[in-house]
Amino acid sequence: MRRSVFIKTFGCQMNAVDSARMVSLLSAAEYRPADTLEEADLVLLNTCSIREKADQKIYSDLGTLRRWKQRRPGRLVGVGGCLAQQDGETLRKRAPHVDIVFGTHNIARLPEMVRRAERRQPSTALGMEEGIAHWDVFPHLAPGSVSAMVAIMQGCDNFCAYCVVPLVRGREVSRPAEDILAEVRTLADRGVREVVLLGQNVNSYGKKEGEIPFPVLLRRISGIEGISRIRFITSHPRDLDERTIGLFAEVATLCPHVHLPLQSGSDRILSAMGRGYTRGEYLAKIDALRKARPGISFSSDFIVGFPGETGDDFRETLDVMEEIRYDSSFSFRFSPRPGTRASEMKEQVDPQEAAARLHRLQDVQATHTRGRLRAQVGREVEVLAEGTSSRDPGMLCGRAACNKTVNFTSVGAGGPIRSVLVTGAGTHSLVGEERQARA
Ligand code: SAH
Ligand code: SF4
Ligand code: F3S
Repeated sequence: MRRSVFIKTFGCQMNAVDSARMVSLLSAAEYRPADTLEEADLVLLNTCSIREKADQKIYSDLGTLRRWKQRRPGRLVGVGGCLAQQDGETLRKRAPHVDIVFGTHNIARLPEMVRRAERRQPSTALGMEEGIAHWDVFPHLAPGSVSAMVAIMQGCDNFCAYCVVPLVRGREVSRPAEDILAEVRTLADRGVREVVLLGQNVNSYGKKEGEIPFPVLLRRISGIEGISRIRFITSHPRDLDERTIGLFAEVATLCPHVHLPLQSGSDRILSAMGRGYTRGEYLAKIDALRKARPGISFSSDFIVGFPGETGDDFRETLDVMEEIRYDSSFSFRFSPRPGTRASEMKEQVDPQEAAARLHRLQDVQATHTRGRLRAQVGREVEVLAEGTSSRDPGMLCGRAACNKTVNFTSVGAGGPIRSVLVTGAGTHSLVGEERQARA
């Protein structure tokens, strides 16, 4: 009988794509995806260690999985991803019932490790020297998918003072452009209309390897038949160059939305973070993007309470937010991570003060988000329909080109891209009615 695997994914899109590769690898090893944890024979946690909270959640899940494992003999538990990479053998000590521990570069070894675990031989693979063999594995694509993420690189060389990514994902490595283009062509053949290119710093794609530059990669992808939308995350504000900005004026399939994490609006804090840009340089790039594509949307990430952040520094962040009016943002209280420079910095901000700042920032963002959503009411937008709406099964749900979620009533069977008249705005999404079916 075929066994089944349940994968629980934490963290960012990079982990989501890795999990999709694990599904492909394991299905070749006779494990089908399980719908629920209870039915599964193997559980894999694909972990994140970006903030302390993520760590705590995973260790608490591992406690639950100890009992899950005891309920049926032969059940197996594996832990991969960034926390596995960071904690390694410590993880095994804290959770001895874990059968498989695999790092961010060792995913291709999973089938072999599972086979060993079936013979009651636990194993650990954390080496970062082996290259990234799993890039050749096509990530599992759910039937009917119209949007897909494509990893174009892994790791990061930036070493921002707060960030654990370079430590757990390793140095930056880019995939060969030909492999990326082949993957996108296959996706297009399978009905995918939108690709989201992934990397920790997509703007430095290929520089180390002497590959084609990122804007050239974008152009080549835009030439692939069937792909009607291209997005990318994450852009580093220092490395986003004029050529890429210029493409927003030239390539219609490049979506009018850029996620450009500011982190802080204070030059002093940006410098302490080692981000490599000033507030002025950041604003100049926002300006250039607006010139290239009028009406373009922006989103950001923020860290509040970075060591040494004063009330004045924080106000500068709020000032930039007022100036830009992001569609949305992810914001976090600074979390000291082992092995990073910022975790050793003196002047740690009082946690209550940091919590109050976070609250304030999120209030400001909520107001901006509502305003940006309301501004869409009465407009006609093109929505890539991804499935039925979770709030109303009679409606479809998808994203407008600017990345806003739209729930809408449909006029019948049409292609994946629908013209929708926006009739209302909620706190996070839009509501609308389809105008006419399109091919
Ligand atoms: N490569 C991306 C970000 C990856 S991590 C970039 O450079 O923008 C995603 C977000 O998590 C970061 O943008 C940052 O806002 C947040 N983050 C990273 N480390 C953190 C830490 N130690 N404490 C709080 N937030 C953190
Ligand atoms: Fe982390 Fe900075 Fe690299 Fe982003 S650019 S992954 S924040 S080190
Ligand atoms: Fe987390 Fe690793 Fe992504 S630390 S945010 S899963 S790169």
